[in-house]
Amino acid sequence: MENIAVDKLTEDQAREELRALAEILGQANQAYHTKDAPEISDAEYDRLKRRNAEIEARFPQLKRADSPSEQVGAPLAEGFSKVRHDVRMLSLANAFEDQDITDFDESIRRYLGLKDGDSLTYTAEPKIDGLSLSLRYEDGQLVRAATRGDGQEGENVTANARTIADIPQMLTGAPAVLEVRGEVYMSHADFAALNERQEARGGKTFANPRNAAAGSLRQLDARITAERPLKFFAYAWGALSDPLAETQMGAIERLGSLGFQTNPLTRLCDGPAEMIRHYKDIEAQRATLGYDIDGVVYKVNDLALQERLGFRSTTPRWAIAHKFPAELAWTRLEAIDIQVGRTGALSPVARLTPVTVGGVVVSNATLHNEDYIAGRDSNGQEIRGGKDIRIGDWVQVYRAGDVIPKVADVDLSQRPEDAQPYDFPTHCPECGSDAIREEGDAVRRCSGGLICPAQAVEKLKHFVGRAAFDIEGLGAKQVEQFYADGWIKEPADIFTLRDRYGSGIQQLKNREGWGDKSAQKLFEAIDERRKIGLGRLIFGLGIRHVGESASNLLARHYGTWAVFEQAMKDAQPCEGEAWDELLSIDGVGKVLAESLVSAMNQEAERASMDRLVAHLDVQEAERPVTDGSPVAGKTVVFTGTLEKMTRAEAKARAEALGAKVSGSVSKKTDIVVAGPGAGSKEKKALELGLTVLDEDGWLELIGG
Ligand code: IVH
Repeated sequence: MENIAVDKLTEDQAREELRALAEILGQANQAYHTKDAPEISDAEYDRLKRRNAEIEARFPQLKRADSPSEQVGAPLAEGFSKVRHDVRMLSLANAFEDQDITDFDESIRRYLGLKDGDSLTYTAEPKIDGLSLSLRYEDGQLVRAATRGDGQEGENVTANARTIADIPQMLTGAPAVLEVRGEVYMSHADFAALNERQEARGGKTFANPRNAAAGSLRQLDARITAERPLKFFAYAWGALSDPLAETQMGAIERLGSLGFQTNPLTRLCDGPAEMIRHYKDIEAQRATLGYDIDGVVYKVNDLALQERLGFRSTTPRWAIAHKFPAELAWTRLEAIDIQVGRTGALSPVARLTPVTVGGVVVSNATLHNEDYIAGRDSNGQEIRGGKDIRIGDWVQVYRAGDVIPKVADVDLSQRPEDAQPYDFPTHCPECGSDAIREEGDAVRRCSGGLICPAQAVEKLKHFVGRAAFDIEGLGAKQVEQFYADGWIKEPADIFTLRDRYGSGIQQLKNREGWGDKSAQKLFEAIDERRKIGLGRLIFGLGIRHVGESASNLLARHYGTWAVFEQAMKDAQPCEGEAWDELLSIDGVGKVLAESLVSAMNQEAERASMDRLVAHLDVQEAERPVTDGSPVAGKTVVFTGTLEKMTRAEAKARAEALGAKVSGSVSKKTDIVVAGPGAGSKEKKALELGLTVLDEDGWLELIGG
């Protein structure tokens, strides 16, 4: 039965499987706690538990009194079923200084082509420090609630959301489809009372209200969530069948009249000066609000302008979060450790005497690189007044939001007399190779490449990670063990694991922690991933600067591995057409492009990639949905002055319609849009016999 997909199970099958799972997991629990020999591996245990939770989520009425989800500790987050968001849930770009707000306003004006005197209004409201939630209403009924997850896919927490008093179950007068987005949070008073109750009954206490809110919402048992005092502020929306209003403020007011709580400190501001004034005003009230906020969010008020501004890969262009300064605390620096990362970077980590900063215990902080320790930034300018950091120093640490703690300052009056300046290693602590610092790079890197075990293991961990190959049963721990025993040295080896260790004297199933079933499952999970999306493959290669969203952009642009690979070969001299094309992708900058082209043409790395790809069936990337777009797949060049939109806007719109925008004209160009003052590019286009349009012709073609 275990092979039947959960959504295909009949009720009888589900009942029987829940019974069997309760028995197997119950025995496994007992074996784990009372005998020395666990009967199934941790991975297998987790997998069964997840399946149990999935079945329970689909058939809540069949949940057993002895359900394994109730058995041990905090329920697993993996227990929730997944929900794909119709409209992605994005994050916000951050600003820290007043100047960033002026820059934000200017960049929006530039993008929209507004003149100095033109008015531009924003909303400004507190940034709530909780977790975001998307609520889907159909015909006024709450049908689904989902957490943000990775933005594309979140967890289905509908049953839990229904227990929150601020969340209406039913709306009157709402659009037929309405996804309301907002923040789940816990007030200071409720947080303190919850921790007191938890302590009294010997339960888990929470470090801060946000953790408490997250922990409470993500309970597999909605009855626990119901006991937790969660609140909800609505501030945005996703899918919509009819517009809510014409402005952000209007939409928020509409959400308010539909019965949602909206933040009372939301104001309209006419420009940066007013925005900053309101920020200061909110900051002054921060301590007395009764709930945590970590900044102020500004949004362009006019929804038609929001639409024109659109999105970068993970953040809207029309909004920004102005964060409050971080909280600080002093403590002792006990040691400096060097970690070697996937790209060979030697990263110094401060080991601190644990200290509480903003409600969270901090015992490590990043020290970035050797310049930072020496008191200089990457341009050689002094930081912290030029004070260096030494082991034994009394240091001030801070956290801002979720970021790793950092060292803000050193108290020289408390420096031990024998403290020595820190000698940054010039050799890799893991493989002994020279650690080299290239000109213009603040980071010293191990030159061992694939021979460095730390780099190889980190690369493998990255490869099997969630956003890359995501192989079930093969996590960081297993990769480390397989690497240590020489079973897997590079990604390609994962795909020959069954051939080498599926049978014979040395077999996976005989390894400690593995059994027949779990070994088979791993081989199956690996086989499933032979078919892989191009974006995941590119990301999985672990090339420096090439993150998840860039990998997806590259995949969508080039479509297939063969095209991508050839384009990277052609781009090799870092000039010419292929290079220009790479740089024309919105979201691909020079640093990323150089790193990518260099990795894709580096002999040993290439050989390792070729060995990998030989085992794979790489799926063509999904192109953006551009059904009916007259320019999908076409290569467009804009030249000369555009009068109805800015260059950035023209490019973003063309790309949203599935066109490729390039900077140079060639035989491969399909359309050249030439405004006044277009020179050699227009001439070349005419010589090549390409379609040349003026701005109006282009707008007509794309439908306005
Ligand atoms: S607007 C498309 N408004 O901050 C942008 N977000 O750092 C939608 N957040 O994921 C977000 N208060 O969880 C918005 N007033 C507010 C917010 C807010 C808190 C959170 C939200 C978002 C995160 C981004």
